[in-house]
Amino acid sequence: MSEFKVTRYKLRAEESGRRGPDAPFSLVVLSDLHNKSYGDRNGRLLQEIREQNPAAVLVAGDMLTSSDSPQYDAAVSLMDELTKRYPVYYANGNHEQRLKGCPEKYGDSYARYSDTIRSFGVHLLENGCEHVEFWHMQVAIWGYELPLECYRRGRMRALAAGQVESALGERSQKEYNILLAHNPMYFPAYAAWGADLTLSGHMHGGIVRLPVLGGVISPQFRLFPKYTRGLYELDGKKMIVSAGLGSHTIPLRINNPAQLVVLDIV
Ligand SMILES: [Fe+2]
Repeated sequence: MSEFKVTRYKLRAEESGRRGPDAPFSLVVLSDLHNKSYGDRNGRLLQEIREQNPAAVLVAGDMLTSSDSPQYDAAVSLMDELTKRYPVYYANGNHEQRLKGCPEKYGDSYARYSDTIRSFGVHLLENGCEHVEFWHMQVAIWGYELPLECYRRGRMRALAAGQVESALGERSQKEYNILLAHNPMYFPAYAAWGADLTLSGHMHGGIVRLPVLGGVISPQFRLFPKYTRGLYELDGKKMIVSAGLGSHTIPLRINNPAQLVVLDIV
């Protein structure tokens, strides 16, 4: 039976120059489930999330896997259960984007998936933003869709902060900006755009982790990618990369447990 580990991060909103909440609160971050189920209808994952008592659930993409016949029953049932208890903010990963961008290959899979989870009340942020208040702390939650060519194998495509802004618009001046951006490799562009906190996944922790060297390989088969798992900082901006909950293509994790990320915001 494979399991996951809970990793907590404490974040002080005032470090970003924003007003913090009147009382601490938690957010749960899900990434890269790839349609895996921990128990029937993800019962064990849901139980752990309930124990964290989050104010909201944030999804950083790849809840399903694009394939010739994409399966997303576990992802759908998880969204169904989560939305009964929490607001859920969801940004697509490359797998959802592939379904959306290639209807000639995947038919209406994306329309059916996205319509279904929206019908539950999921806030699907396709280059969009929702404004939320948690205990008087003003938060803008953004979902960014990176151009699909940035996920291709081979040489890494460049991305400028201006491209993030042309997709999303200007970041909020008054609110704490949380950016759900599936691919962490473009952290400099996200930070330059103005994300106070970026939440990413995609790297599956580097699949195999070595002491000192960290994650070995990215899903694009790049060796020793820079951002694979954990907290990173750049010019006062933060990024947390989840090692994800599932896997695909290389169904392997060595020294790299699946992960449920919990943020404690104070
Ligand atoms: Fe991904």
